[in-house]
Amino acid sequence: MLIEPHGGELVNRLVEGAAREQLLEQAAGLEAIRISSWTISDIDCIAVGAFSPLTGFMNERDYESVVESMRLANGLVWSIPITLPVDKEQADRLSVGQRVALVGEQDNVIYAVLTIDSIYAVDHRKEAVRVFKTDDTNHPGVQKLFSRSNIYVGGSLEVLNRPQPDKFREFYFTPAETRAQFERKGWKTVVGFQTRNPVHRAHEYIQKSAMEIVDGLFLNPLVGETKSDDISADVRMRSYLALLENYYPQDRVFLGVFPAAMRYAGPREAVFHALVRKNYGCTHFIVGRDHAGVGDYYGTYEAQDLLKTIPAADLGITPLYFEHSFYCTKCGNMATTKTCPHDKSHHLHLSGTKVRAMLRDGICPPPEFSRPEVAKILIEGMQEPVDARS
Ligand code: ADX
Repeated sequence: MLIEPHGGELVNRLVEGAAREQLLEQAAGLEAIRISSWTISDIDCIAVGAFSPLTGFMNERDYESVVESMRLANGLVWSIPITLPVDKEQADRLSVGQRVALVGEQDNVIYAVLTIDSIYAVDHRKEAVRVFKTDDTNHPGVQKLFSRSNIYVGGSLEVLNRPQPDKFREFYFTPAETRAQFERKGWKTVVGFQTRNPVHRAHEYIQKSAMEIVDGLFLNPLVGETKSDDISADVRMRSYLALLENYYPQDRVFLGVFPAAMRYAGPREAVFHALVRKNYGCTHFIVGRDHAGVGDYYGTYEAQDLLKTIPAADLGITPLYFEHSFYCTKCGNMATTKTCPHDKSHHLHLSGTKVRAMLRDGICPPPEFSRPEVAKILIEGMQEPVDARS
């Protein structure tokens, strides 16, 4: 028996066949709200049930409840507001009960029809402090939040079109598809791994430690919008493929992307990441050091601490916690302070900034930090013009 999705039912908001043709025709005559690629990725996650039990953008009750108490109005755990900001001028023309077309601002594609059940103004600063634990505009998530309108429109979605990835199409799966894959493989327990980075030795170590106790690993890199200095999804995908080919048993790992945007909300995003992986069919979820963190905004184990406050039955997926991992030159292997008695001078530590600088200069980080096959792809990726990388 596969693990239940969050809220008990896998949401499917895709309209297909004749109903879709009909709705597309109607949608052309509706007031249009122009939407960004970020919003398009949210719509897609809602459409296929990755964000189950959400059936649309949050109304005021759910939003307030999530911001205040990390639960939807019906009491289900949910940590990140999923919202549709609309400019004041346009919001003034809208009313509850109205149906609007959500249209891509770049491509003019009608992605969905939204039936409005709530139009509300929010306090951005309060949302920032509750969700990101800071209102510092240097924080990329806060910056993004403050750059959008503070008037939100909530309501359920009927989804007409899905974004078409131009690369690595074969690694896009709906939760129904990943569930079918896990079942076909006979995996009873599956550990999900979220990442927005190349998989270095520390990531590999915690994944493989988890693989010792579960049937399969779902390597689920986030490929939606990230901050500009994160390594592009395209380069990362190439590096994951090289890593899996050389160092993982093919029948115990499954690679599929998570198309959502990165929020950088640290602890709250860790909860969100866990719930979403439950929807994809994972029974376990890896949470290591400073999960979904950025800069020094969160403590190393704050994400783990927050997850530990949520009753197991309310979360439904089992988090697997890992300490900060490193290569110890005395042990001669990967370790954490739980398994290594040696002092820090024997531990290999490279900051993200240092590694990026090495790669830009064409220097391979040591094999104790990164597999050479991975480093090679990252170095090649750094030499490409920015346009070719995304
Ligand atoms: S994240 O923003 O997606 O969390 P990243 O891709 O770096 O960033 O991390 C993926 C997962 O690996 C997270 O659970 C994170 O906590 C964990 N992790 C990253 N580096 C380490 C490390 N050195 N030791 C232990 N866990 C780590």
